[in-house]
Amino acid sequence: MAKVIYPGTFDPVTKGHIDIIDRAVELFDEVIVTVAKNPGKTALFSVEERVEMLKESLKGYEKVRVDSFDGLVVDHAKNVGAVGIIRGLRAVSDFEYEFQMALMNRKLAGDITTILLMPHARYTYLNSTIIRNLAQFHGNVAEFVTPIVLKKLNEKFPPKKKGS
Ligand code: COA
Repeated sequence: MAKVIYPGTFDPVTKGHIDIIDRAVELFDEVIVTVAKNPGKTALFSVEERVEMLKESLKGYEKVRVDSFDGLVVDHAKNVGAVGIIRGLRAVSDFEYEFQMALMNRKLAGDITTILLMPHARYTYLNSTIIRNLAQFHGNVAEFVTPIVLKKLNEKFPPKKKGS
């Protein structure tokens, strides 16, 4: 049984991430989507909120489990019995960073393989920062996120009342 983890910040999850998960479930028996508790970024959403948004967005995905982790990604992979780490590669600009991470993770744990998957071209320019920025200034993000994420973004950045 081939189990993999898909780690990330997911602040918040976007349809670009879900596109990667769709591809991963075609290839593996179980995909554990795992939220990094401390990725060195200041997050808009708490870990609990990010996990909740992922769980709700991935309802009905029988091969997917959502959790969170602290510490090294390879340690979490070992703890859950995963053989690989899924990462998304959107553009050439992602490559150097992903390559460096993959080689470091291989050095740390030679038996855990990094698998890079390319999302659909329509998501190549998407990241969570763009979504947060757009939402903050009340740009329309509905096409890029799931309904639960849209709801949570609207709660964080309530639409302006007319006249205010
Ligand atoms: N669609 C849309 N956006 C995507 C995407 C996709 N398919 N794939 C990546 N992104 C975006 C993310 O939304 C994120 O955007 P943001 O920076 O605007 O928030 C950005 O690309 C970075 O991706 P993310 O997956 O969140 O990775 P990260 O660089 O924050 O790294 C970990 C997260 C968990 C993989 C990394 O911090 C880690 O491994 N931490 C544990 C410590 C460790 O083991 N270190 C050793 C590794 S060398």
